[in-house]
Amino acid sequence: MAYDTILLETRGPVAFIRFNRPDKLNAMNSKMKDEIVAALQEMEADDAVRVLVFTGQGEKAFVAGADINELAVQTPTSGREHALAGQQVLDVIENLGKPVDRTALEQWDLYRQPFLYDAVDRFTKPVIAMINGYCLGGGCELALACDIRIASDRAQIGQPEINIGILPGGGGSQRLPRVVGLGKAMQLILTGDRIPAAEAHRIGLVDEVFPHDQLEAKTLEIASRIAEKSPVAVRLAKQAVKASARMGLDEGLRYEQAVFSLIFTTRDKEEGVRAFLEKRPPKWTGT
Ligand code: COA
Repeated sequence: MAYDTILLETRGPVAFIRFNRPDKLNAMNSKMKDEIVAALQEMEADDAVRVLVFTGQGEKAFVAGADINELAVQTPTSGREHALAGQQVLDVIENLGKPVDRTALEQWDLYRQPFLYDAVDRFTKPVIAMINGYCLGGGCELALACDIRIASDRAQIGQPEINIGILPGGGGSQRLPRVVGLGKAMQLILTGDRIPAAEAHRIGLVDEVFPHDQLEAKTLEIASRIAEKSPVAVRLAKQAVKASARMGLDEGLRYEQAVFSLIFTTRDKEEGVRAFLEKRPPKWTGT
């Protein structure tokens, strides 16, 4: 499928989704959000894809946040439906300069299910955020919904929503404290400050930092190592670790037991154990 705002590329078992509005620092508009969700469905269905990498096109940005032009005019009905109907331009003209006309309850309904971030979070294969530059607002929230965050030493990360009088709406207020702790999350969200990659690494917001010119090669190396493992074991291991963010310890431990029992029914478990004992590399079937 062809997309306007993202580029899809596969390197063997690793698929890249590149945000492609470099002149707007890859700010996410409604169309891009819809296209990412569609691409995720495409990647989910493609068995050849084992690991997904998100990154930004151009030299400057991963994603510099939600498209602020859209935030300026969005109403409960104008956001998604009109964008899909191609009426957004008319809507922008009609609403230019007007205050946003939605009640608190309408706003609540609008953002009850921030679908994009949930779609990333619930994707069953490993997802890596390859943070190549500005990673702000919705960009940071998208990275937080990924499994591993790998940054360029040029990256700058933050939740600057407070600077325009709003707050994170793509899961940032919930996922950020789970990653960096309450105090640091509070500091980032309340000050709106951007932090450089080294500081993001120090507080655990990103997992690796590489020199900018090595970012892609190093990310591909990590993605390829994961892609070599049994797809069924990777999927269940990811599911078990993800469960830790949603469950209490006792419930999570029971969940792990259930998933651990399940893995013993797979052919890949038989193959993995036999290959080890026979001192040969395993041949995974993903079953
Ligand atoms: N939404 C819409 N457009 C955006 C954008 C966003 N979130 N972030 C950047 N852009 C656009 C700029 O308007 C500019 O467009 P123009 O050339 O048509 O004027 C273009 O991208 C380049 O950005 P610019 O601000 O000129 O680059 P810079 O290097 O001087 O500054 C940033 C970079 C990231 C510091 C700055 O763009 C910024 O603060 N962006 C907003 C970040 C933000 O608040 N995100 C959260 C939104 S909820």
